[in-house]
Amino acid sequence: MTRHFLRDDDLSPAEQLEVLDLAARLKADRFAERPLEGGKTVAVFFDKTSTRTRVSFHVGISDLGGSPLIISSESSQLGGKESIGDTARVLERMVEAVVWRTYAQSGLEEMAAGTSVPVVNALSDDFHPCQLLADLQTVRERRGDLPGQAVAFFGDGASNMGNSYLLACATAGMHVRICAPGAFQPAAEVIADATRIAAETGGSVTVTDDPAAAARGADVMVTDTWVSMGVEGEKQQRIDALAPFQVTSELMGLAADDAMFLHCLPAYRGYEVQAEVIDGPASAVWDEAENRVHAQKALLAWLLAKNAPSAAHER
Ligand code: CP
Ligand code: NVA
Repeated sequence: MTRHFLRDDDLSPAEQLEVLDLAARLKADRFAERPLEGGKTVAVFFDKTSTRTRVSFHVGISDLGGSPLIISSESSQLGGKESIGDTARVLERMVEAVVWRTYAQSGLEEMAAGTSVPVVNALSDDFHPCQLLADLQTVRERRGDLPGQAVAFFGDGASNMGNSYLLACATAGMHVRICAPGAFQPAAEVIADATRIAAETGGSVTVTDDPAAAARGADVMVTDTWVSMGVEGEKQQRIDALAPFQVTSELMGLAADDAMFLHCLPAYRGYEVQAEVIDGPASAVWDEAENRVHAQKALLAWLLAKNAPSAAHER
C-alpha cells in the first residue's frame, strides 16, 4: 500500500516523531538526504494561491536532488477538464510524488486512490498537514519535547488550520485547545478523531468559546486568518464573529510566561493578531515559515523511503 500524507493523522505518533527528527537533521545538514538524486521529478499542483508552500517545495525538492515541477491547475488539464483518476494514472508514470493544494479533501483522496506514488496535501479546505509539521518542528526548537505541552488555537477553528492543529497536536501527545465561537468550531468527526488519538498519546482535546480559559497557562498560542481561501465572500461576517478571538498582548499575558506565538502566514495584523504580538519577542513565525522547507523535505524523504522500491514505472 502506497503511503500518502493527506491529513495529519496519516502519520502515527512514532512516525510523526521520525519525520520531525529527520527535519531537524536536514535543517542542520541541508543535503544529508538525496532520494531524488539525478533530477527525479515531483509534481506540485496549485488550485489556490501560495508563496511559502510553493517556494518551500521548490527548494526542498531541489535540495533532495530532484526537479520540482510547479503547476497552476488552471494551466493544466486537472482544473476540471480531465478526471482526477486519469491524471493520477498519468502522473505515476512520470513523477516520484504528487503534491497538491486544492479545495476538496475528496479530490486528494481520489488522487491517492488512483496512483502508486505518494500524494501530499499542500492544503485543502479541511487540512494543512505540511504546515503542522513545520509548526511542531518550531515548537520543539523553542520549547523542547512536545508531549504535555499546551497549545491554544484562536479564531476559525473549523478551518484547515484548526482541524490540523487538533489532529497533529493530539498525535504529538499535546494538550490542544481550540477556541472559537460555536459556528466556527471544528466538525464533530474531527474532534472525535483527535480525542481518540489523544487518549492513546496522553494528550487531550478541549473546544471552548472562552479565550481567557483557552489562553491560561498555554505554552503555544496560535491563530490564522479569519478569511481562508475560498470563503472571501463571508469576510465581513467573519470579522464580526471572530473579533473577540483576536490574539492580543492581554491574551498573551494569560499564557505561560515564556509562551510562544505561531501563525502560518499570511497574517492580517489588526484582525486575528495584534501587530505587537506577531512582531514581538514571543513570535516564532519566521522560523515557522523557514521550517516548511525542512519539514517537507523530511516528509518527502520519509514517504519515498517507505514506498521504495518505487512502483512508479511498473504499472
Ligand atoms: N502558510 C502557507 O501555506 O502559506 P502560503 O499560502 O503562502 O503557501
Ligand atoms: N487557513 C488559511 C491558510 C493559509 C495558508 C487558508 O486556507 O487560506
